[in-house]
Amino acid sequence: MSTKDLKVAVVGAGGKMGMRVSDNLAKTDWTVYYCETGEAGKQRVEDAGRAVTPTDDVIGDVDVAVLAVPDVALETVTADVAPKMKEGAMVLTLDPAAAYAGLLTVREGLDYVVAHPAHPSVFLERKTDEEYADTFGGIAAPQYSVAAVQQGSEDIKPFAEEVISTIYGPVIKVYWASVHDLAVLEPTLNETVGCMIGQFLKDVMDATVKHTDMDLETVQAMFFGHIYIALTNALRGSNPFSDACLLAMDYGREAIIKPDWERIFNDDDLDVVIAKMLKIDAVRR
Ligand SMILES: NC(=O)c1ccc[n+]([C@@H]2O[C@H](COP(=O)([O-])OP(=O)(O)OC[C@H]3O[C@@H](n4cnc5c(N)ncnc54)[C@H](O)[C@@H]3O)[C@@H](O)[C@H]2O)c1
Repeated sequence: MSTKDLKVAVVGAGGKMGMRVSDNLAKTDWTVYYCETGEAGKQRVEDAGRAVTPTDDVIGDVDVAVLAVPDVALETVTADVAPKMKEGAMVLTLDPAAAYAGLLTVREGLDYVVAHPAHPSVFLERKTDEEYADTFGGIAAPQYSVAAVQQGSEDIKPFAEEVISTIYGPVIKVYWASVHDLAVLEPTLNETVGCMIGQFLKDVMDATVKHTDMDLETVQAMFFGHIYIALTNALRGSNPFSDACLLAMDYGREAIIKPDWERIFNDDDLDVVIAKMLKIDAVRR
């Protein structure tokens, strides 16, 4: 499929991701329809100067449906839209959880791709004010994306990469993985661990203020630089940790991390966290 004269529907166009991908799609010469059912979402679409179109009016005619609805709604939304889409069209979802859990209505004759934005790297060398301001990605700071073909041939990847690079742009590169492995990245690596540790850093910073006579400003002055050096030492080997630091790190690991932490990579554990996120009893894989 070519991206010439492409017709795209963004379903959930007024949500957080819907607005972001719509901002980028609006800059293309593709025909883009903004579909949204929530009142607040409709208002956001209109406030951005875009018209809201009922999904049913356009879904049978589009080449790509970007489903930017909440993961918990994807079962209902794919059951509704997939039977109405034209042969050869692509369903693009933005998170692997629902695909992994077997919740999507997967119709033969349609391609299904799931693509997640990686967000701009903590090590990105940002050069402009716009790049500095773009913490999430999708505006000015370049980011990667990792995607998976849930249904379809290898041939759809170049086309899918063009669409993914547009909705999440600027994109440096789209990497490909299986739906299962993408679910190991998101949620296991990114949310179960990365985001949890990010929030934990905030919790220990607040606890430091609570347990000492220092104010938050003093604690942040010391901590933010140390977070950066810890990340660059550990992830890029920029400098060795000092011998005393290594001993304190061992103490911290023993005090805080459970010895069997790698169980989060077992599929049974992944099923549990995905079922929790999707608010379902169990995944159907
Ligand atoms: N928010 C993030 O940081 C983020 C990052 C990466 C991927 N994602 C993924 O993007 C997708 C959307 O998440 P979000 O956080 O933007 O959700 P959101 O709740 O912010 O927005 C969802 C929008 O969909 C609308 N909607 C719900 N049902 C609809 C329907 N049947 N038809 C049309 N519109 C409908 C809602 O009114 C809402 O405006 C999810 O798959 C999520 O996992 C989100």
